[in-house]
Amino acid sequence: MRQAGRSLPEYRRLRGDGDILDAIAKPELAAELTLQPVRRYGVDAAILFSDIVVPLAAIGVGVEIVTGRGPVIDRPFRKYEDLRRLRPLEPEADLAYVLETIRMVVGELNVPLIGFAGAPFTLASYLVEGGPSRTFARTKALMHGEPELWHQVVDRLADIALATLRAQVKAGASAIQLFDSWAGALSPSDYETFALPASRKVLEGMGDLGVPRIHFGVGTGELLALMSEAGADVVGVDWRVPLDVARRRIGAGKAVQGNLDPAVCLAPAGVVIEEATKVLQDAGGEPGHIFNLGHGVLPETDPGVLAQVVETVHNWRPGTPSGEVAG
Ligand code: CP3
Repeated sequence: MRQAGRSLPEYRRLRGDGDILDAIAKPELAAELTLQPVRRYGVDAAILFSDIVVPLAAIGVGVEIVTGRGPVIDRPFRKYEDLRRLRPLEPEADLAYVLETIRMVVGELNVPLIGFAGAPFTLASYLVEGGPSRTFARTKALMHGEPELWHQVVDRLADIALATLRAQVKAGASAIQLFDSWAGALSPSDYETFALPASRKVLEGMGDLGVPRIHFGVGTGELLALMSEAGADVVGVDWRVPLDVARRRIGAGKAVQGNLDPAVCLAPAGVVIEEATKVLQDAGGEPGHIFNLGHGVLPETDPGVLAQVVETVHNWRPGTPSGEVAG
């Protein structure tokens, strides 16, 4: 459960109000922040404490994470000459602290660690917009108006994502997740032309390492069939599409990840457990389901409720009627 830590008092104490990019650059702190939610909830995997913009900051793109807003780029990308600012990533030199964090975490964990990167489209949207966006207007204007420049931007971002993911696996990550959080802003045809090829380059480029590849998006109901062609082993689904419907769109041979609505987790515990059980029933068993929220944990979530969700998932056996979870 991404951002599970944000609901924990011990996490907030340790994390403080400091800049998240500074916290990520301190391996001991980042390792401890990765481990805390695993200890508290007993989940089956850890997700690295980092951010999708970290590789961009590491190659010198000016980016700041503004509290309450998200990543803000100091000089947004608009022209061909901006391409020069996207130099290749050399993970051992540029991201030594991330690799050190991974080695520390893996030494202490007894569950797998998931490494991750931002997908080219989602990262490009931050670069072009200059920050979070509701309409993605500048991004769409650039991709349609200057498709050659767009393709070069996302191709470079694919190489950057691939370099960081390969290095994370070599440092000890057992699975990887490609976060295309904002892909749902695209029509299927735009997704196919402007986002899919670069994501495929990343996911297929990981094929030889033999680790499970998870492909995440939000609001991607109309894109699931296309996403399933991008080369991942697991396709993430948010709460807008029930997992049995999603499986039909995704097709045979892929696992699904999701899809409890994070907002539902603010309801009374009994309701949350019922909704979590529905997710488990809809998922079916084959060929695999990673129970997760459809997006990150909201900070105001009660940790006690999340602990009960974890317990519900652990006690689940297919065929259990709703509301009567076997213990
Ligand atoms: O949520 C997603 O869609 C996943 C992909 C994603 C991450 N960062 C991965 C991540 C995205 C889209 C971002 C950008 C980002 N970074 C945002 C979103 C803003 C927007 O556009 O709406 C924000 C708010 C940040 C800053 C950030 N990064 C925060 C506040 C946190 C939580 C931890 C903290 O100390 O406050 C992160 C950590 C982060 N970003 C993780 C991941 C996988 C680490 C793992 C975790 O916290 O569980």
